[in-house]
Amino acid sequence: CFKMSTFNQRKQALSFKILAKCNKSKARASVMTLPHHEVNTPVFMPVGTQGTLKGLLPDQLENLNCQIILGNTYHLGTRPGAALIKKAGGLHKFMSWKRALLTDSGGFQMVSLLKLAEITEKGVKFQSPYNGSEVMLTPEHSIEIQNNIGADIVMQLDDVVRTTITGPRVEEAMYRTTRWLDRCLKAHKNPDTQNIFPIVQGGLNIELRTQSALQLTKREVNGFAIGGLSGGESKDDFWKMVHLSTDILPEQKPRYLMGVGFAADLVVCCALGVDMFDCVFPTRTARFGCALVNTGQLNLKRKMYMQDFEPIDSDCGCSTCKRYTKAYLHSIVTAETVGCHLLTVHNLRLMKSIQESIKKQEFPEFVQKFMEVLYPDKK
Ligand code: GUN
Ligand code: ZN
Repeated sequence: CFKMSTFNQRKQALSFKILAKCNKSKARASVMTLPHHEVNTPVFMPVGTQGTLKGLLPDQLENLNCQIILGNTYHLGTRPGAALIKKAGGLHKFMSWKRALLTDSGGFQMVSLLKLAEITEKGVKFQSPYNGSEVMLTPEHSIEIQNNIGADIVMQLDDVVRTTITGPRVEEAMYRTTRWLDRCLKAHKNPDTQNIFPIVQGGLNIELRTQSALQLTKREVNGFAIGGLSGGESKDDFWKMVHLSTDILPEQKPRYLMGVGFAADLVVCCALGVDMFDCVFPTRTARFGCALVNTGQLNLKRKMYMQDFEPIDSDCGCSTCKRYTKAYLHSIVTAETVGCHLLTVHNLRLMKSIQESIKKQEFPEFVQKFMEVLYPDKK
């Protein structure tokens, strides 16, 4: 009995319970319990770059039933600065967000935002866009910043190459990503309260991606990410790489596909066994006055909606579609925050429908209906 209780004392920073599995695809609905909140998956994590979701306050996000949001290490590390966030008692406290948080490691943002970033075995070297000074982001430094921020899930620093690149650089980046993972795990100070997720790389190469996933699964971690995709590759290549990765990653742990957020991709990748997604797209489009619908998006700023007294989508069921017409939304979208809030509610609705359909064993029918609306001519 004494032995049992000492065993049980080690805190689990993540538990993942699968509630339902689709019997025609790899889709599953789960509850992921993190130190700050329980998260129902499949989940879409909105991106809050400066520790806030543009135009929305933490209270409003809670009202959206949003259980986890994404912060960015590099932005937070520079402004207000990781030291200040540590002093404030972590990002949760600083921004008054009580639910779960995930931070990306920062390197990817550097490489994709600044063409000048230079990658060596030591880390990612770049010029600070704030003061022009040279900064070296190493795996150890990225984890130190992320430990100070205190998110429930932190990402390893990875070496990402564009999917359009082929040849030895792809292989180098994949093996380096594994080496950097081990440096991140060694530098990690809070394994009881923060989970490091490794990131599968390997470009569009079957052998390299397989190798990457196999290597990462040998490490003791609570979840995995799939990276380096949705950067201009063909849909066929994209889906093949996701499918291959989820086949290798363990079924009992969450899988996070980074940077993916178009509706059709979310539906397909849920079917391929992905549990978590992030992308600026649904919230950014909402800020621009656009509502996502199966067939694309409606720009509610357009005059054609001035007298349209129908909801965005009468089948949707979100609180915006239940209460407001396109004409009303048109009248307020340019007046910023309320309109932005209402559109964000609608744009984040898709995942809830996916979760519900998996739990009711109706996911295949959901996909069928979704695709029929998206591609009406192919019926
Ligand atoms: N965001 C989108 N794709 C990636 C990726 O491959 N790595 C990291 N760190 N972040 C991402
Ligand atoms: Zn809606």
